[in-house]
Amino acid sequence: MSEKKFNDVLVEKIEDGNYVVISINRPDKLNALTTDTLREIYEAMEQFEVDSNVRCIVLRGTKNITKKAAFSAGADLAAGMGKGLKPNIPVHMAMAMQQKHKYYDLIESFPKPVIAAVDGYAFGGGCELSLVCDIVIATRRSFFGFPEIARGIFPGNGGTQRMVRHIGLARALKMCYFGERESAETMHDWGYVGFLCDDGDEFESLIHEKASVLGNSATTSLFCIKKAVKFGSQVPLQIGNIFEMLGFGVNSGSKDVNEGIMAFLQKRDPKFTGGM
Ligand code: COA
Repeated sequence: MSEKKFNDVLVEKIEDGNYVVISINRPDKLNALTTDTLREIYEAMEQFEVDSNVRCIVLRGTKNITKKAAFSAGADLAAGMGKGLKPNIPVHMAMAMQQKHKYYDLIESFPKPVIAAVDGYAFGGGCELSLVCDIVIATRRSFFGFPEIARGIFPGNGGTQRMVRHIGLARALKMCYFGERESAETMHDWGYVGFLCDDGDEFESLIHEKASVLGNSATTSLFCIKKAVKFGSQVPLQIGNIFEMLGFGVNSGSKDVNEGIMAFLQKRDPKFTGGM
């Protein structure tokens, strides 16, 4: 379904919901992430940026579980840093992180909604990957955490920065300091997991339900909402309000605005096309 060929990810277009599922496909390594895996995730997404038949992305671990269920067990601890970067040179390590940050940032900035569908482990870089998605659906058997401290490492792909913005200082520090795994239930109680369910059919139906809602929604409005909420919340309120004002303006030119208002006046359900 994807024009490009990938080694580490599978891409499946779900026509009846206008969305695409990107599955991390390294089950023998619990979907551990190399820089190439992150690049592939982004490149898989990028090809649907302006495709109006793809209006939402679901990011998940492969359904083909060979060992344990995992969204991703984090950075691939067996992989090198790539591009001649040496682990004993600190500035090389900063450059390696910069490379990874680039892909996390690009995934976060994707112009359409991105759902993290988590079943199993979401640790380290895997937890950080869920952090750059917009909505988290998780099964009850899932765990989130930053085990880096146990290895004397550092949650350096956004873990120390993004999680605190979601769950607050005390909880984020607890996660980073102790490296303990937090259950999906706890993360749901903390407001991080948006939708909690059982694994198996319930998980698959919930993914389809939520992705289809977004896939049939007003794409330009979602784009403006995403930018205003995610980035407006990082600046003072008055500047955030300008994001909102501009978002409202940009959205007003989309075909879906007319459709939404006409449908209301005609007392029928809107048929959004994602037309820009
Ligand atoms: N990088 C590379 N390989 C990994 C990995 C990682 N982050 N996490 C798991 N794997 C591999 C294991 O080496 C193992 O491979 P093997 O069967 O060929 O030996 C396989 O995945 C299964 O892992 P295993 O440890 O046997 O499963 P488990 O259920 O007992 O434990 C974890 C699961 C996730 C708790 C454990 O694998 C772990 O702690 N992983 C590292 C997590 C981490 O530190 N992430 C942050 C990295 S900065």
